[in-house]
Amino acid sequence: MSRNICVYLNFLTEAHREKIQKAAARAGFQVRFFVKGQFEAARDWVQTCEILYSNSPRLLKASPAALRWYCCSSAGVDPYCRDVSLFPTPDCMLTNSNVYGATIAEHVVMVLLMMLRRMPEYEKIMAGRSWSPSDPLSPIRSIRDNTFTILGTGDIGSHVASSLKGLGAAKVTGLCRSGYSSNPVWDEVLPISALDDVLPRTKNLVMALPSTPETVGILSRARIARLPSDAYLVNVGRGTAIDQEALADALNSGALAGAALDVMVPEPLPQDHPLWETKNLILTPHVSGNMTLGYTCDANVDAFCADLENYAAGRPLAGLVDRSRGY
Ligand code: GLV
Repeated sequence: MSRNICVYLNFLTEAHREKIQKAAARAGFQVRFFVKGQFEAARDWVQTCEILYSNSPRLLKASPAALRWYCCSSAGVDPYCRDVSLFPTPDCMLTNSNVYGATIAEHVVMVLLMMLRRMPEYEKIMAGRSWSPSDPLSPIRSIRDNTFTILGTGDIGSHVASSLKGLGAAKVTGLCRSGYSSNPVWDEVLPISALDDVLPRTKNLVMALPSTPETVGILSRARIARLPSDAYLVNVGRGTAIDQEALADALNSGALAGAALDVMVPEPLPQDHPLWETKNLILTPHVSGNMTLGYTCDANVDAFCADLENYAAGRPLAGLVDRSRGY
């Protein structure tokens, strides 16, 4: 029986398909590609497959017991870790794609600069067509010489740290479970248990955490209250990490200077959700890792092809997720 791969993804170009075809042929596999609208055909083909490259809980759930590896094209794999019944067998491997750091770091820099340099105020001036040269200049802040606390030191957190250092940040502190990172970009890495002590001296907090039982609600009402009132907050991880009601209260009362959320609960936010009306809050619709960027798509495909080579050679997969840990 031939060894087969099912690819069910929308972002692939012809060049990506060719690259995957070649990698599959080298590894002794036959591959077929499907896009949105071809779910039934993909479901039929996956019955013959040992590898699925996709981001579809539904297709994974319909996969056969012979499936050995589910390569998830997204970075966050929380739905797959929450619900083990999605997998045909408990030992089916799950990998994620650690390729979003570069584009998400640009998003973080964009929203940080918008807050530090007061872009929302200039938008109001543009919308109102009223520019008064006699108004006193509002003081702005900069990334240069500023300090940053980043929750999560993985691919995303490290790319954010590196972009901020490149723009002259004075100090970038990372917090993670182990309190250790081999990446030299960090000025300081601390364990998550240091969070309560770090928050009162945090001027800018960037959250890039996966959603796991340990991170849900990690930025609680009590912790939001520990942030200085002139601090800014950015979240590009998962919305579940923040007590949103407490955040809205802090922003509306001026207990926090500003926040930018790319992730929230629920997504999409309903029209009548209070976050839309919250003061000094920038909302973006979960786009920081946006798959319209060629370099992100290229890296996603390259990561799959590299792990396919590992898989065929019986080596450990680079993107392997520990489902019990959640990332
Ligand atoms: C997007 O949030 C992702 O997990 O890739």
